[in-house]
Amino acid sequence: MDTIIRDLRTEDLANGFLDSLTSLTDVGLTPEEARGVMQTRQRAGVRTYVALLRGRVAGTASLVIEQKFIHRGGRIGHIEDVAVHRDFQGHGIGSALVQHATTEARKLGCYKVILSCFEDRVPFYSRLGFRRHDIGMRMDL
Ligand SMILES: CC(C)(COP(=O)(O)OP(=O)(O)OC[C@H]1O[C@@H](n2cnc3c(N)ncnc32)[C@H](O)[C@@H]1OP(=O)(O)O)[C@@H](O)C(=O)NCCC(=O)NCCS
Repeated sequence: MDTIIRDLRTEDLANGFLDSLTSLTDVGLTPEEARGVMQTRQRAGVRTYVALLRGRVAGTASLVIEQKFIHRGGRIGHIEDVAVHRDFQGHGIGSALVQHATTEARKLGCYKVILSCFEDRVPFYSRLGFRRHDIGMRMDL
């Protein structure tokens, strides 16, 4: 499918962006509330990418850059919140978004990108060049 990938803009919030995210989990934000979240994320340096299909957002992925002390102050990229709208899954949009985030991380000087996912997504990420690495851990607060 013919998609354009670029940084999230305010007008995207009510144009498929929040809908796309619901394929991941509940969002529970109005576009107006999401605007405030977007500004906070931008100030924190979180990068949000969108895939546009026929002028509407069909998917998204985010990239968080972390500056380490270890590895001689190396930088790593965390890929987060990869989601493609239910109507458009299985057409290469998710792959294109992850490849875009990876390319951006490389350009920003990261020596690796990492992400966590459920077992059934392993084939999707493996096809893109990721390998199993460690075990994700969580504590609800
Ligand atoms: C996972 C997801 C992002 C993939 O995006 P997509 O645009 O559908 O993926 P692509 O079309 O690029 O798929 C590439 C390959 O992965 C496979 N694939 C996609 N989603 C899959 C899934 N949920 N389980 C297993 N395989 C999957 C596709 O079959 C395709 O393989 P093929 O080319 O051999 O047919 C999308 O299905 C999605 O948003 N899922 C719900 C949210 C989610 O799980 N996000 C990931 C959180 S880590």
